[in-house]
Parts: sequence; C-alpha cells; structure tokens
Amino acid sequence: MPPGFEPVAAAFAPDAVGKTLRLRGWVLRSRSSGGILFLQIRDRTGIVQVTGKRDQLGDAAFDAAEHAQVEGALTVDGIVAEDRRAPGGRELRASAIQVVDPGLPFPIFTEQTEEFLLDHRHLAIRSQEHVATFRVKAELLRACREFLDREEVLEVTPPILSGNAAEGGAEAFQIDYFGRPGYLSQTAQLYLEALLFPHERVYALTPSFRAEKSRTPRHLTEYLHLEVELAWCDLAGLLDFMERMVESVARTLAERRPKELTALGRPPAELAAIRAPFPRITYAAAIDRLRALGLPVTWGSDLGTAEERALTLESATPLFVTHFPRELKAFYMLRSPGDPRTAEAADLLAPEGYGELMGASCRETDVALLTERIREVGANPAEYEWYLDLRRHGSVPHAGFGLGIERLLRWILRREHIRDTTPFPRTPARHTP
Ligand code: 4AD
Ligand code: MG
Repeated sequence: MPPGFEPVAAAFAPDAVGKTLRLRGWVLRSRSSGGILFLQIRDRTGIVQVTGKRDQLGDAAFDAAEHAQVEGALTVDGIVAEDRRAPGGRELRASAIQVVDPGLPFPIFTEQTEEFLLDHRHLAIRSQEHVATFRVKAELLRACREFLDREEVLEVTPPILSGNAAEGGAEAFQIDYFGRPGYLSQTAQLYLEALLFPHERVYALTPSFRAEKSRTPRHLTEYLHLEVELAWCDLAGLLDFMERMVESVARTLAERRPKELTALGRPPAELAAIRAPFPRITYAAAIDRLRALGLPVTWGSDLGTAEERALTLESATPLFVTHFPRELKAFYMLRSPGDPRTAEAADLLAPEGYGELMGASCRETDVALLTERIREVGANPAEYEWYLDLRRHGSVPHAGFGLGIERLLRWILRREHIRDTTPFPRTPARHTP
C-alpha cells in the first residue's frame, strides 16, 4: 500500500478544513445523481461523507466508484470542507477515488429476520450496533484486566481440554480424546486452585463450555469466563473484591465508551452511579421475599430466571444472594461454619432483572468432606485425586468466583438476548458460522 493514508477521524481534526487527505475504507451508503456522487465511508475511526464529481474524477473513475456496493472497499484523495448537511459537519471533496473491491450487493439490510441475520453473522457483525457492542466488550475486558492487575492478581493459562468434568458431568461436552473420554472445560477453577499455591492470587480468562439445552436469552454453550481464586480469603473478603471489581469496570466503561453506551441505550451516568457495597441477602431471606411476592418457592428450591428477576427487577444496583443450600451447589463449596445445611457461597445478581452475573464460594479444604461430597453428586473421587492432593500439601482457606463476560455485557448494554454480546454465538441450535 502507498504511504500516507490517514484515518477517517483526521477529517474532523480542528485544523483539517482545507487540507488534502488520503483515506481508505468501506462504503456505508452511496447515492448518485449521475453527475455527483455522495458516499459515506467508514473505517475503524469514524464515518465521513465523500462527494465526487464526474467532471473532476473522469468518467471511468466516476463510473467505477458509482458501482461500488455497500461494503465495497475504496481509497479517496480529497480536500476537507465544511458542510452543514454532512454528518459531523464535514465532507471530503474527492479529487480521486480508487475502487479496491466494488463488492457484490450486500445482503444485509434492515427488516430481516433474526434467523437470516444469524445465518449471515459473518457479514452482519459489520453493523454499527455490533461495532459499538464489541468496542465496549474489548474495553470491558481491558477494564477487568486493569483492575486485576492493580489488585496484584496474576493472569494464568489453565487448559481447556481436560479428563475431568469439573462443574457437573451432565453439562459437559464430551469429546473423544484418542480413545479416552475428554471434556471441554466448564470452569478453570480446579486448575486455578492448583495455581493458587505458588501465586496466591490468580485469574484466568478462558472460554467455558456448557452442554445445556437451555434456549434462554442468557445461556450460551460457549462463553468467556473470567475466574479469580484468592488465597487466605473468606466470603466477606471475596464479596468485597467482587463488588469493587464491578464498580471499577462500570465506572471505567462510563468514562471510556460514553458514545457507544449511549448509542446502545445505556446512559453512562447509570454505570458511573454503581457503587459498592452492594446489598446482600441470604438465600433463606430471598425465599421469604419471593413467597411474599407470591412465587411458589420453598427452602431448597433453586433460583431460576423468574426468581432472580423478581428479586432485582426494581433495583439499579447488583444484589448478592448468599448461603444457598449445599445440595443446590457444586461439590467443592465449603459448608458454612454456622450452618452445615448451607454453603459458604454467593451469587451476584445483575440489576433490572438480568439475573446471575457471578457465582462465588469459599472452597472446602477437608479431604474427607470433599470426598464425601464428590460421592454425593454421583462422581468418582478417584477422578479428582490430583485435586484432593492439593489439600495434603499446605492447604489454606481460599475462595474464588466466576464471571460470565457476556452476562455482564448483556446487562450493561441492556441487550435482550445474550447472543448479541458475542460475535459468533454458540447456542444449542447453532454452531455456524
Ligand atoms: O456459576 P457457575 O457455573 O460457576 C462456576 O463455574 C465456578 N466454578 C466459577 C468459579 O468459582 N471459579 O458459572 C460462573 C458464571 C455464572 O455466574 C454466569 O455468569 C456464567 O458463568 N455462566 C454462563 N454464561 C453464559 N452462558 C452460560 N450457559 C453460562 N453458565 C454460566
Ligand atoms: Mg452459578
């Protein structure tokens, strides 16, 4: 490529008017009167209007540019001018336009069915809505990492393929691992617990897989899982860490991506107003509250979509639900010191009825109790031998949590469906494109 290309945003610099720029990008819109051509060109930095006149460009170049389709690629040389009618108040008056690829007619436009758009996801992700979404997502990941870095939590790289189905066999994708059973990771937790002993504070950001046939607006079969494991940590310390992380991430997004948030329907001020500490209620109190609201639950009922929604529909702040019955939760959770029926665990529920964002617990450190729980959930303790072994070599109290990145983004961006928070959603019905 010849040197000297500027980003589209350069056309909007304070001193740009009157300057000659070379831009390159894709056609967002195109309109021609035969003698004058109006293009909107986008690149990663913005959108600018380009006008080209037949008598200046010459017939061949004008005709070629006129035939460039939506999403066709081209380069433009031109002079920046003020134009009140153009988006952003500026336009580029072209002296030359070169078509890189005119493109075929772009199949994506408004008023198409969700199915069609999902079938054409590889092209649909070019829409302004998706662009804004994935810029916010990138910023969210950066904000999480920055927070964890400040907290001196070390990023580590656990495996995604494993011989263990950690969270529960039924929801694990099983694969053929050279003739033996293997699983796609549902959680990195067990490996984080091992890595905690040399590093004390660790995290991993990995894909997790859940073979749940749940067709709900908040389940993916592949999602991005941010998991943290902290040594010498109790439940109070863990919840404090989690709420500070959510507060920090929400504030950072409000500061750095106000334009995208606003365009997607989340006023940045609402995120900037999220403040720790978040309210906490016990599972038992949540059951009482739900019964008072008329929901048919009793002690021992799992909290599903409807229950989580009822607990948070009216609130603008996330809510911790703590001390679930042990039977509802995973085998590795510590039994509460004050009540052997409950686990020393918490879920963080999103505001506005969006449901569970994070699952957290203190971990059982007693080998005998762990072995008993592994049997109770129908698993074979022999398969967890290496995990049990961690408790035999300097075992210490520790705790951790998992955060579903797409769940967090769904709430932050007020998306109806979780699939709109990931470029290529994996659901029971679809694993292509
Ligand atoms: O509550 P979960 O199952 O907890 C664990 O996996 C723990 N081992 C994590 C840990 O302590 N290290 O999952 C954690 C989070 C949930 O709170 C939810 O946000 C997200 O992962 N999640 C999903 N996100 C999208 N689609 C799904 N099917 C999800 N299942 C869980
Ligand atoms: Mg959970």
